[in-house]
Amino acid sequence: MESKVTVRTIAGAKKSGRRLAMVTCYDATFARLLDESGVDVALVGDSLGMVVQGLPNTLPVTLDEMIYHCRAVSRGIRRAHLVGDMPFGAYQASPEDALRSATRMLKEGGVEAVKLEGGVEMAETVAKLVRVGIPVMGHVGLTPQSVHAMGGFRVQGRDTDSAQRIVLGAQALEAAGAYSIVLEGMPAHVAAEVTRAVSIPTIGIGAGPDCDGQVLVLYDLLGLPGDFTPRFVRRYEELGLRTRAALGKFVDDVRAGAFPSAEESYEARAPEAAGAGPSPKYGPHS
Ligand code: KIV
Repeated sequence: MESKVTVRTIAGAKKSGRRLAMVTCYDATFARLLDESGVDVALVGDSLGMVVQGLPNTLPVTLDEMIYHCRAVSRGIRRAHLVGDMPFGAYQASPEDALRSATRMLKEGGVEAVKLEGGVEMAETVAKLVRVGIPVMGHVGLTPQSVHAMGGFRVQGRDTDSAQRIVLGAQALEAAGAYSIVLEGMPAHVAAEVTRAVSIPTIGIGAGPDCDGQVLVLYDLLGLPGDFTPRFVRRYEELGLRTRAALGKFVDDVRAGAFPSAEESYEARAPEAAGAGPSPKYGPHS
């Protein structure tokens, strides 16, 4: 096994020029695959509200739901660095509130770091968490938890003032002790400027090629959603199409009586050896 990825690995990546690969993850099965694939960072993103729960945005996702998914993912992760998103409402009220929420994410969710959205306005909160030993990943630019304030999921930093706010936000996060920053939804030249302006790694999504790393939502990368693919997504698979085809074949086989075969069925055993029979629960049956 490759050695464990930690905050030190992440911090060192910028100096060594090794680009970081981060992918979102929401369950133990995909976590195991991600861990074995060499991905550096598994992010339990609050995007789970949209891709797992079917919500129009991430705002309704609760701290308990995040912790549930973090705990599941943590069971599949051995090598990758594990980060959990702080959901909307779990950290904005006060640094103390943020500390309580982040503590639960680490204790109950098993994550190694938390991510929160916002720049200058979040610096005090970041400092509070970092002071007590909780690593924090920042997130600036298109911050989905501010969807209503932005008037939709809109690219940020298109004018000089907005670009300047992003740069200052990233610098404030670094000064507060954040160990890395997600740059989401901004022109490539703005992300490049932020990446030059801070000494911690930047991880981009819809932010062009000049970040220190890249992150994609797992379901987007695998081609699981339907028709709409945002411009910044590269689909490395078409699992949506393949899943639909596989399910269709299953339906055909069931209707035609072609599943299960004799090999896929249990045979009678002598009553004394049969015991109580196979467990009705999902799992390996004997
Ligand atoms: O919630 C999420 O998945 C994220 C990534 C897109 C960075 O924040």
